[in-house]
Amino acid sequence: MTDRSSIGEAGAAESGLPARVCVVGAGVIGAAWAARWALCGVDVNVADPSRTTAQRVGATLHAATAAWERLGLREMAPLGEVACAGVVDDAVGDAVLVHECVPERVEIKQAVYAEIEAAAAPDAVIASSTSGIRPSELQAHMKHPERLVVAHPFNPVYLLPLVEVVGGSRTSERTIERAMGWLSAAGMSPLRVRSEIDGFVADRLLEALWREALWLVHDGVATVAEIDDVMRLGFGLRWAQMGVFQTYATAGGEGGFRHFIEHFGPALQQPWTKLTDVPELTPEFIATLIAQSDEQSGDQPVAELCAARDRNLVDLLLALEANDWGAGRSLAALREQLAHQG
Ligand SMILES: NC(=O)c1ccc[n+]([C@@H]2O[C@H](COP(=O)([O-])OP(=O)(O)OC[C@H]3O[C@@H](n4cnc5c(N)ncnc54)[C@H](O)[C@@H]3O)[C@@H](O)[C@H]2O)c1
Repeated sequence: MTDRSSIGEAGAAESGLPARVCVVGAGVIGAAWAARWALCGVDVNVADPSRTTAQRVGATLHAATAAWERLGLREMAPLGEVACAGVVDDAVGDAVLVHECVPERVEIKQAVYAEIEAAAAPDAVIASSTSGIRPSELQAHMKHPERLVVAHPFNPVYLLPLVEVVGGSRTSERTIERAMGWLSAAGMSPLRVRSEIDGFVADRLLEALWREALWLVHDGVATVAEIDDVMRLGFGLRWAQMGVFQTYATAGGEGGFRHFIEHFGPALQQPWTKLTDVPELTPEFIATLIAQSDEQSGDQPVAELCAARDRNLVDLLLALEANDWGAGRSLAALREQLAHQG
């Protein structure tokens, strides 16, 4: 993985891209961050103690490259070099941006920040991929807390443009601006979250749906596969191109959103949902969920499901780009950015 040509540092800087990125923790998310940056022509150093890191990062880069080929983006920038190391110290080097992608536990993340700070330049930005831990908590014991920011991406990171950017009470404005600039240059659409809350915006929404889905299986109302069909054959298709509010504006007929809220708003008073109640994850319930999930996927391995997911997302993104709509606009901006850079 280290034989790839890399764009020169000046080229990267001129394009608004970071000269070098480091990824600490190369699981599902870290490996995919590494792939996105490499595909944009940026050199990436990866640190992860796992013995299978190079294999995992290589497989993710392979999948991401195939997806970018189908998007017609692959040849637009030379691949950045990806180098894997076992320890943080060997990987941070002169990276200006360090993605922290270790497991979702505060104490693990804080210990990793101490390792990164011992090796990194004082103003290197540390961007946590946390799904919902507040940055003020993450930065509590840092020497330079002003350089910690949350950059919460969505899986697969090399295809989905959204990244939530959240600052903590001690994060500097400069850190947020630098992170937003770099992420935009990598073809992402960073959303600066206005207030620091647990779960940010996306996981607040996802958790509400996830809880309801668990209750419906728990209560025997629907199976795992039936719930997924409700989404992918119905409202999930709408959500990929219009969000919940714009979709409801169209559901209001001529009267638009005003009619919709007058018509359906009162239904919110009915006790339909379980809201914040969570079904107890007993061993029996977990076994039911796993059995139904296995039955849903048949003998398709996860790698095949991920490949199908990527193919579908690529075609969806291309369709949205052709319609100059939603995530298709982010893709068009990335195409322009890469053309400008090349
Ligand atoms: N999986 C998702 O869909 C998703 C989406 C958005 C954000 N996130 C967030 O991304 C972060 C990582 O999640 P993931 O799903 O990639 O987890 P994962 O379990 O797939 O990967 C974590 C990786 O961190 C490595 N690691 C553990 N301790 C380390 C250390 N001290 N130094 C370096 N590497 C270390 C592990 O070896 C592993 O490869 C979490 O904060 C999670 O909340 C996950």
